[in-house]
Amino acid sequence: AKSEAPTTGAATTGDTVWIGHIGSLSGNDAVFGQSTDNGTKLAVEEQNKKNGIKGKKVMLKTLDDQGKPEEAAVAATRLITQDKVSVLLGEVASTRSLAMASIADSNHIPMVSSGSTNPRVTKDGDKTRPYVFRICFLDNFAGTVMAKFVTENLKLTKVAILRDVGNDYSMGLAQFFRETFQKRGGEIVAEQSFKSGEQDFKAQLTAIKGKNPELIYVPGYYAEVSLIARQARELGMKQPLAGGDGWDSAKLYEVAKGALDGSYFSTHYSGDDPSPTVQDFITRYKAIYNTPPDTLAVLGYDAAKVAMDAMDRATELSGPAIRDALEKTKDFKGVSGNVTIDADHNPIKSAVIMTIEQNKAKYTATVQP
Ligand code: PHE
Repeated sequence: AKSEAPTTGAATTGDTVWIGHIGSLSGNDAVFGQSTDNGTKLAVEEQNKKNGIKGKKVMLKTLDDQGKPEEAAVAATRLITQDKVSVLLGEVASTRSLAMASIADSNHIPMVSSGSTNPRVTKDGDKTRPYVFRICFLDNFAGTVMAKFVTENLKLTKVAILRDVGNDYSMGLAQFFRETFQKRGGEIVAEQSFKSGEQDFKAQLTAIKGKNPELIYVPGYYAEVSLIARQARELGMKQPLAGGDGWDSAKLYEVAKGALDGSYFSTHYSGDDPSPTVQDFITRYKAIYNTPPDTLAVLGYDAAKVAMDAMDRATELSGPAIRDALEKTKDFKGVSGNVTIDADHNPIKSAVIMTIEQNKAKYTATVQP
């Protein structure tokens, strides 16, 4: 792609360069934003120890969007126009990344999402968004991975879906799962909806119970999924649940208290991975935060590293030049896997399947694309 003249941003002067991060430091899914910010900070600190970016010190400004798409949009505009950041990191939630994407594009400031897996984040209709990138796999892949696991490994054919209509990620993942599951001969015996922030799911679960599925696919975030699991058990439902990366948080187990034992989810990373890259990262992270990194700490770290690597390689620290360098990212060795950015601004990465046992996630399988 060709560079055009920078509009805003590119205000990097003197000895510093600014990076903006937007995340849910508070709100319904606060663990996502907090973990991502911890990973991001560690990446920036390590970069500054290695002479920063083009010899300039990297400065990080994080804004809390409280888990609200409107706030994510306001934060993006503010970081670009007032703080003059050269790059935006974020968001985790696809719904919030979608609220930021056109702002990054129209201001010619690259945005790198750590965890937003909905296809539309980097694609507007059939057009790749020029300034938006991600470092994680997409939901068409995650949905297919779980549908195959359910049919091939678990050999189940009757499944119910319970999805979050207030969450673009959840709606997309439900659709991708359904498509592959049905193609493989599976039957969706019930489909029910809820909305992020709700706490009572008994009506939907009762309707699902009446259809007697062998498994319930719940592509949601940990806050709702943990309550859904507990309420299902209270209703006497014994079926396993299955889901995606939105489950992946220590808070899931705190609330579920064993209600998810025997359930499965797909995600980006497992701390059980014995590779030195992963184990070294866990050691460095623990030394600072006193707790092992979760998936979003890892993805936040990798997103920041990929962005800074591109900034360092860019011909200058302008939005268009950094964008061009991001497009050339090849075989970047991340903790969550290698990142090569394709023509649609996405990497191709493997997924892991985790099984919940004794209220803990256990690594079960790696699925290559
Ligand atoms: N993939 C989710 C989304 O797009 C966000 C997420 C990523 C949640 C990784 C947990 C772990 O909304």
